[in-house]
Amino acid sequence: MKTDTTSLNLPIENPEAEDFLPILGTDFVELYVGNAKQAAYYYQTAWGFKPIAYAGLETGKKNTVSYVLQQDKIRLVLTSPLEPGGDINEHINKHGDGVKYIALWVDDATKSYKETTKRGAKSYCEPYTIEDSNGKAVISGIHTYGETVHLFVERKDYHGPFLPGYKVWDKPYNTKSTGIKYIDHMVGNVGWNEMNKWCEFYANVMGFAQLVSFDDKDISTEYTALMSKVMSNGNGRIKFPINEPAHGKKKSQIEEYIDFYNGAGVQHIAVATDNIIETVTDLRDRGVEFLYVPETYYETVLDRVGEIDEDLAPLKDLGILIDRDDEGYLLQIFTKPVLDRPTMFFEIIQRKGAKSFGKGNFKALFEAIEREQDLRGTL
Ligand code: FE2
Repeated sequence: MKTDTTSLNLPIENPEAEDFLPILGTDFVELYVGNAKQAAYYYQTAWGFKPIAYAGLETGKKNTVSYVLQQDKIRLVLTSPLEPGGDINEHINKHGDGVKYIALWVDDATKSYKETTKRGAKSYCEPYTIEDSNGKAVISGIHTYGETVHLFVERKDYHGPFLPGYKVWDKPYNTKSTGIKYIDHMVGNVGWNEMNKWCEFYANVMGFAQLVSFDDKDISTEYTALMSKVMSNGNGRIKFPINEPAHGKKKSQIEEYIDFYNGAGVQHIAVATDNIIETVTDLRDRGVEFLYVPETYYETVLDRVGEIDEDLAPLKDLGILIDRDDEGYLLQIFTKPVLDRPTMFFEIIQRKGAKSFGKGNFKALFEAIEREQDLRGTL
């Protein structure tokens, strides 16, 4: 069965999507995790995030604890429950560790809420103001795919370490950056035949436009297949590719994700670096595991992408993938899942002009992913 990928009827490239919000950038990504303290140590030690802010028993929170980490423009929040029962435990029980909030930085969280709910977004929380001695912030929220939520964060009147209620997380542990700078894109996996529904959500409710689409002919191997469309906001700072499974001889990697996550959710967070060779070398030295890319990939890659600035040897040694579009090329690599369930992973990306997402690498990548799936007995 082939799903129609043209039904959305949006222009392939529309950098001027109707930007009624507008979104200034990703404010933070919050994961619900089983053990935030140890997860925070992982992101500091393996990824080079710096401790920024903390909220927990010591700050008057009774039920939850949150650690805020930052590296350049990327801000992660890790939250765990401190008692049994409740929404967070339920979320972790159902999904394992995973992204709960993709928080978007806006000028006006009240207007963002009104504009999106008016266009059909399901409310998560109405705008509310939080305050402490460092000022105030306004937060509102709407539901997106699965149990994932978009928060709108208005922080122009706040000057503290993160948000009201958090204190500076002062820790004499010196983490060294791995050179990752900002979130390039965040990918959502949704269920069978749900890609268009969620692309329409981003178009109609958020004013995003579609950048590119791939169908199962682009992204399939002998065994697995998926379809993907990339939705982007007007200023291009927010890019959300949406994947759905497609039929192959065996289980699609998107279906495996949906099975283990128990529904739709964030599949990967792509983080940008200016020097992917240095960043990936550093991450590998710190124990981050990447997908294996077959050596044969490098025998033909330069025929496909043409000349590049980098030597091929270190790219091959690290398993970095290369792709080219009309505007330039990009280098990218994918980690293995960073959680016990085969759900969320990271991508490291360095763009050298290219604005695309590595379509030419999909086949090579998915063959690599299938080898991993095979080892888990879920192919
Ligand atoms: Fe990606």
